[in-house]
Formats: sequence, structure tokens, C-alpha cells
Amino acid sequence: MPKTWRLYQDVLRSYPNSTIVEKVLITTRFLELPIRDIDRWIGESDTIADLGCGRGVLANILLKLSPNRSIYGVDLSEGRIERAIASAQGNSRLEFIVADVTDPQLYRTERRFDIVLVSEVLYLLSHGKQEQVLDSVASILKPDGKLIIKDYTTRPWYKYYMFWIETNLLYLLVNSIYSVATKFGKLGHLFRLITIMFGVRDNVTVSSPEQFVSMLTRTGWRILSGSFPSHGFWPHYLSICQKMRCNKLH
Ligand SMILES: C[S@@+](CC[C@H](N)C(=O)[O-])C[C@H]1O[C@@H](n2cnc3c(N)ncnc32)[C@H](O)[C@@H]1O
Repeated sequence: MPKTWRLYQDVLRSYPNSTIVEKVLITTRFLELPIRDIDRWIGESDTIADLGCGRGVLANILLKLSPNRSIYGVDLSEGRIERAIASAQGNSRLEFIVADVTDPQLYRTERRFDIVLVSEVLYLLSHGKQEQVLDSVASILKPDGKLIIKDYTTRPWYKYYMFWIETNLLYLLVNSIYSVATKFGKLGHLFRLITIMFGVRDNVTVSSPEQFVSMLTRTGWRILSGSFPSHGFWPHYLSICQKMRCNKLH
């Protein structure tokens, strides 16, 4: 397996015309995502549906770790999908489309994947929509396929409070400055870049580990592993699940 530094350089090379903001974003993916913990659950030639793939950074990482994988990335943002498509540089093993992961139409397909990956997306949806996604993804998985969820959670508490401050206070602060700054042209643009750089978000729904477990159980998932990867700044939760089999009684 390539060493992390080489991997990082390789991924950066997939985004040749990236701005400084994008470079920072790619770097934060390396600092925050539990890449090895995710990678070890994925086979060397698995097919992966990456729901909410963003610019495709994680998809690129997973493909560079095992070049025989095929990854189908989906994201709501046209701009991010454009960057993801550019990063694929014609590699047919990387495919990206614009779609909403809460749209039932996305799951009406004959395609089946070994892995469905949902990394840092559920917390951007309401609990009702999270459960809807968890329910729908089973239909695009192969019978023994795995669902991998990487999200934020409420533990450890100090990381959660840092995260809360980042998502709520920074959001408020940056947006109020932004609304004033827009009146001053370029300054407004600068604040918009800061908003993007820090990933300031609104409407986050961070679930506790217990809420994840009950949502997954309610939607028929068996949890093979639930862990709290400890590196980085934020409180991570990583769950590996398989669909429960119904043994029909005759
Ligand atoms: C924090 S980024 C995570 C990107 C990537 N999965 C990763 O782990 O690096 C969240 C992504 O989810 C996407 N997203 C949010 N809601 C979505 C939805 N309803 N359907 C598809 N994508 C969505 C956003 O556009 C954004 O690119």
C-alpha cells in the first residue's frame, strides 16, 4: 500500500488546476477522514457507490489504494461533480453524477454495488431523511454488500462541542459578516471563500452513537462494527453494516 504522503501527492495531482481553497479542502480530507479504517472494509476490486461524494477526493483515494475498484459518485452540487469528473482524468473506473441521495429515483436502478459509502452526508439531512436514505440504499447493494457510514457524532463531548461551535457559532458569525461584506464587493467574495474553506454549514443534525444504532436497527441493518476513529479535530463515528437477512418460515 502506498504511504500516506505519496498518496496525498498523488491525489493532489488529480486536481491540477485547484485553487488554494481546494488544496486546503483536499488536505483536510487527509487529516480528518479515517482513510485506512474505511479502506480495510473494501475489497481490492469492489464496486462502490459513494453517496454525497463531493469533489471525489475520497473516491480518488480509494481508487489509488486499489486501482481495480470502480466508484460511482453521486452529489447534489454541480460544481463539486464538475471537479470530481475533471479529477477522474478519463479513468472509466471513476464515474460521477449529479443527484440527490434522498431522491427515490436514484435507487430505481438495476445496478448493484459491493459497497455503499456514505461519508459525512447524513448529518446534513434531517433524521427523517437520514432514515429514508438508510432504508433506500439496501436496494443498490449486492446481497452480501456492506454499507459504510462515516459521520459526526456527539462523543467525545469536547470534540462535539468544538464541532458545535464550528458549525453553529462560526456559521452565524461568518454569515452575518458576509451579509454586511457583500455590500463591499470583493470583501464579500473573500468571506464567501472563508465560509467554504471552513466548511461552515447550517442545519446540521448530528446523531449520538445510540441514535445511529437505533436508526440502523430500525431500517434493518446489522452492525458489524461501530467505532470512534480518534484522529483529527472532530468527533467521528464509523459504522460498517450489512442488511439483515429475513429467514422466511414456511
Ligand atoms: C462534507 S461533504 C463530504 C464529501 C465526501 N463524502 C467526503 O467524505 O469527503 C458533504 C457532501 O454531501 C453533499 N450532499 C449534501 N446533501 C446531499 C444530498 N441530499 N444529495 C447528494 N449530496 C448531498 C454535499 O453537496 C457535499 O458535497
